Amino acid sequence: MEKRGSFGSKLGIVLATAGSAVGLGNVWRFSTEVGANGGAAFILIYIACVVFLGVPLIVAEFVIGRHTHKNTADAYKELAPHSPWVLQGYLGVLTAWIILCYYSVVSGWTLKYLVSSIANQVTTVEDSAAYFIHFTSNPWMPVLYMVLVMLLSHLIIIRGVQGGIEKFSKVMMPLLLLIIAVMVVCSFSMPGTEEGLRFLLLPDFSKINPNVFLSAMGQAFFSLSVGMGCLCTYASYFTDDSKLMKTAGSVALIDTMVAIMSGFIIFPAVFSVANVAPDAGPGLVFITLPNVFQMAFADVPIVGWLFAVFFYLLLLLAALTSMISIHEPVTAFLLERFGFTRRNATRIVTAACIVVGVLCSMSFGPLSDVHIIKDMSFFESFDFLSAKILMPIGGIIVALFAGWKLDRKMVYDEITNHGTLHSWTFPIFMFLIKWVAPLAIGLIFFNELGFFK
Ligand code: PHE
Repeated sequence: MEKRGSFGSKLGIVLATAGSAVGLGNVWRFSTEVGANGGAAFILIYIACVVFLGVPLIVAEFVIGRHTHKNTADAYKELAPHSPWVLQGYLGVLTAWIILCYYSVVSGWTLKYLVSSIANQVTTVEDSAAYFIHFTSNPWMPVLYMVLVMLLSHLIIIRGVQGGIEKFSKVMMPLLLLIIAVMVVCSFSMPGTEEGLRFLLLPDFSKINPNVFLSAMGQAFFSLSVGMGCLCTYASYFTDDSKLMKTAGSVALIDTMVAIMSGFIIFPAVFSVANVAPDAGPGLVFITLPNVFQMAFADVPIVGWLFAVFFYLLLLLAALTSMISIHEPVTAFLLERFGFTRRNATRIVTAACIVVGVLCSMSFGPLSDVHIIKDMSFFESFDFLSAKILMPIGGIIVALFAGWKLDRKMVYDEITNHGTLHSWTFPIFMFLIKWVAPLAIGLIFFNELGFFK
């Protein structure tokens, strides 16, 4: 058995975990949700969800992972042997694998858009919707890009926790934050951005309804990577002196700032190009934005080109640091449970994801008529199953497990590093995780299933 990996520094821990949280969800999913749910008021509710539900769940997963120093499945097995709680460990691994299969498809699109924008195709194309559909419906090209990003993720994971995940995150996260900051400044300097800023900053509370609450919660969970085995697995590599509350707070802060900053990049640009609606849907990033870059910089095409290249580079880096965090829980499970070497465990996961990823990728082309769940394609079924079923269930179980099943003293010891850190946050955490989180997530879940419609 190989020696178990561990992160080397506190900075590495924060950057790797923030790398997991900051992903496609912060850029395309967040902007789509903000656009569809009325802007600033949604953002306020989103922030409340992050603080009162997201952070406690992150801490709960950290406690489980760092206490056991085991992969998700074995962590639950150690903490609650021979009980149904053990299922949550397997559920975490399964959810990670399912997410990886389709997340890699969209990550592949971002690689394609980076390559095309470098080749100056994205910002010169006449009809960006046709361009997007032409690409995604092609049987092989999106598969090729999906395989390429899977291999990139593979190459990082195979190098292990410190040499792969931590090293990559430590270089890529600062780069990503820098690109975002530069792009925000550029976006602000475009003509006609006030409307975009008003949309993002001035809340219109008439837009708030129960659905907005529920969308905000769902977005917060997806964005923070909670409810599946990912944070628990990363926490199993934390050093014992790491501070769980502080790390969770930093990760949530970075994740939220990146989401809001990407809103600042996207919306002023969208509003400065008059005929583009802010609620253009998931196509916003791949269909609307190329138009925006093109039109906003019609006089100086080189700036449009630069903007596009940096934007898709940013998206790809964000996607990759999340992909590795979805790759790792499954790899760690195979490695520790079945005694594979890291090399072989990674190979199995990569291969299994590529095979199913091909089906997800082809859902936009040759397999678009194949329905798995109801009338949903492979891709849509995987997205639905993970984000709308498995992650909320996972979230409820994690909250109940940490709030009701785990020994309170053990949780206290983990959070305060055996009483050496301040403990005023502990009762607040316990209240949120015991009562608020299970009830609120239950609400999202049953709403998603249509119980309140
Ligand atoms: N949080 C990531 C994002 O915002 C997605 C993700 C979900 C990563 C679940 C890991 C686990 O894109």
